[in-house]
Amino acid sequence: MNFKIAVLPGDGIGPEISAQGVLVMKKVCERFGHTVEFSYGIVGADAIDKVGDPFPHQTYELCRDSDAVLFSAVGDPKYDNDPDAKVRPEQGLLAMRKKLGLFANIRPVTTFPMLLDKSPLRADIIRGADFVCIRELTGGMYFGKKHEGDNEAWDTNFYTRSEVGRILRVGYEYARRRRRHLTVVDKANVLASSRLWRKVAKEIAAEYPDVTTDFMYVDNAAMRMIQDPCFFDVMVTENTFGDILTDEGSVISGSMGLLPSASTGESTPVFEPIHGSWPEAKGRNIANPIAQILSVAMLFEYFNLPDEGKAIRDAVQASLEAGFTTPDLSKPGYRTYEVGQWIAEHI
Ligand code: IPM
Ligand code: MN
Repeated sequence: MNFKIAVLPGDGIGPEISAQGVLVMKKVCERFGHTVEFSYGIVGADAIDKVGDPFPHQTYELCRDSDAVLFSAVGDPKYDNDPDAKVRPEQGLLAMRKKLGLFANIRPVTTFPMLLDKSPLRADIIRGADFVCIRELTGGMYFGKKHEGDNEAWDTNFYTRSEVGRILRVGYEYARRRRRHLTVVDKANVLASSRLWRKVAKEIAAEYPDVTTDFMYVDNAAMRMIQDPCFFDVMVTENTFGDILTDEGSVISGSMGLLPSASTGESTPVFEPIHGSWPEAKGRNIANPIAQILSVAMLFEYFNLPDEGKAIRDAVQASLEAGFTTPDLSKPGYRTYEVGQWIAEHI
């Protein structure tokens, strides 16, 4: 295959981990006889500083005209404590998701046998945990009508039947390729939007009699995830709940720096770590590049190239076994680019 990849390094540690993703992708293409062409775009605070827009039209066109986007992170503390900021780096990420129609965010949560003791949870609880959170990504409170007054403010958790239906179908197709168990996570005891989710889910469940469906309130799911994570196989949930639950999921794996994701839908798919821009670590080369590198594995798998994906996963696994890791996993630890190079060399 001849890959045309848009690379969006963004802010904070973004450029440092992005470089490792690019390095690994080049190496895999070399080894498996693919060609790859990388084009860089600006996004987030970097783009606000340069052109005043966190997702400039030029970046959109670059993404639209590529086979896939390798995205890293956005966010800068100078916007965090300014409630009056007119434009924020995060809006760049949201605009990208919306404009590319990326309604399905696939976030696998797994454990690595050699890292069981890195999690604050007991090894006997998390051993074997392996589930996928399918997070709806272009609806809900993130994109519903908002009002920001001085004395009152609101966000709308708006969902349509078709938005709910299409994300559930993504979940069921995943479940069919896995352990055939799907959990719909909602808050149907309180929220009208969740009751629509449940109604639609019950209808679609009837089309997938080979998959076991259960429903769980989000508060209960948050508890179950750390009490008994092996219960879950495929979890489908709305935008906001999925955001919160997947940060919680990273505690199972042992580090926020390990979890990749794929955002797919109508246009170019985006592959990105689930973590943020970690501004305090910017330029220090201490960030773990594995979430970004595993995002590249998800990219190959998306294009039906499982051997390429596996080559990356095996090299990552080997680096963890060798203890060749960044400081989040072992002290004093190696630098971001040393870990990236080690993994690339072992592909
Ligand atoms: C994520 C991030 C984003 C989100 C932020 C940066 C807008 O937390 O990808 O999980 O909330 O979706
Ligand atoms: Mn998040």
